[in-house]
Amino acid sequence: MHPDQTGLRELVRPSLRTVAAYDPGPSLTELEVRYGVKDIVKLNWNEDLFGLLPGVREAVIEEIRRAPLYPEQAYSDFRDLVAARTGADPAMVAPAHGIQALVFAVVAAFLNPGDRVVLPKPTYGLYRQACEAAGAEVLRVPSREYRLDLEAMLSAAQGAKLVFVCDPNNPTGDALAPEEWAAFLERLPHGCLVIVDEAYADYIAPKQRPSRVAEVADGRPVVVLRTFSKLFGIAGLRLGFAIANPDLIPCLDAVQEPFNVNRLALAAGMACLRDPAMIEARRRQVVAARDGFAAKLAALAIPTWPSQANFVLANPGGDDGRWYEGLVRRGFLVRRGSEFGLEGHLRITVGPEKLMTAVASAIAAVAAEQRGYDGP
Ligand SMILES: Cc1ncc(COP(=O)(O)O)c(C=O)c1O
Repeated sequence: MHPDQTGLRELVRPSLRTVAAYDPGPSLTELEVRYGVKDIVKLNWNEDLFGLLPGVREAVIEEIRRAPLYPEQAYSDFRDLVAARTGADPAMVAPAHGIQALVFAVVAAFLNPGDRVVLPKPTYGLYRQACEAAGAEVLRVPSREYRLDLEAMLSAAQGAKLVFVCDPNNPTGDALAPEEWAAFLERLPHGCLVIVDEAYADYIAPKQRPSRVAEVADGRPVVVLRTFSKLFGIAGLRLGFAIANPDLIPCLDAVQEPFNVNRLALAAGMACLRDPAMIEARRRQVVAARDGFAAKLAALAIPTWPSQANFVLANPGGDDGRWYEGLVRRGFLVRRGSEFGLEGHLRITVGPEKLMTAVASAIAAVAAEQRGYDGP
């Protein structure tokens, strides 16, 4: 090693020296070798399993011809379509390559080292990583019985710069009632901004979906983050957007790269948004599969927390590592609750009904194995 290389880490910002990068876990190939199974189905990252929406494939194929050109930087067509779906003004929309990028953009735009941030616990892990990397003081507020403890979060928010709310929350699938949210926002301390991650909000029935766009338009201290990775099913293309006060949009754009969203993602995202009836049909299909799966687990005496997302948090009890292994051996990769501090739980992505029937059968088989016999 060159002598100058020793101590290179000392050059890194102090707050970054103790922050661990996201660990995606073993690859499917590694798991297939380790457990001796083929064609493992991924139910661990809440990706879409229902197939591309009509028109997406054609839009991407058509757009690939323009791959030599940088994307149009103002993204005006995309902003217009997002505005039409959400009711926001196009000037309130900041496109990005996913919510993950926006979490870092928000942190870069608002947090100085030492600023206080409030996060629920458990919740999506990236908020903590991004805030700690920025040198913020992170307060994590434990949930109560799987639900965000908004009262405790409000107390913690005194003197805080940002509060992150994930609604519906990951990993519980729990959604806030509109009146809970309204009361929370009303009492948010002055000088504090709430970042609402609505990655899973597209699964909530339109009439029950919180209408935060109107609050943003009214100048309330709210920034909403949305994605095309879940209901719209293009996680691999990376596309999302923030809805924020028009005064904040140039600041969010300033901390993102100029051509941050690629052409294929934009073309696919616009194809996704073209037909509201098609989106609603897909939403209902996912909800039916999710509720059917929860009913199958209930029939196995495995409770689930009511979910408003494309996953369920099941509580089979015992050692979730054993459940995980039993399911991988049967070809289904799920998420262990202990990764979120929820021992004995499993977070399972919902796919089409036929697949979920097979998952429920595998769970029944693992349950039987754990009881020490193979069933009747
Ligand atoms: C709550 C939450 N936010 C954001 C994301 C990632 O969103 P994106 O793919 O838009 O970066 C996920 C992915 O699982 C998530 O669960």
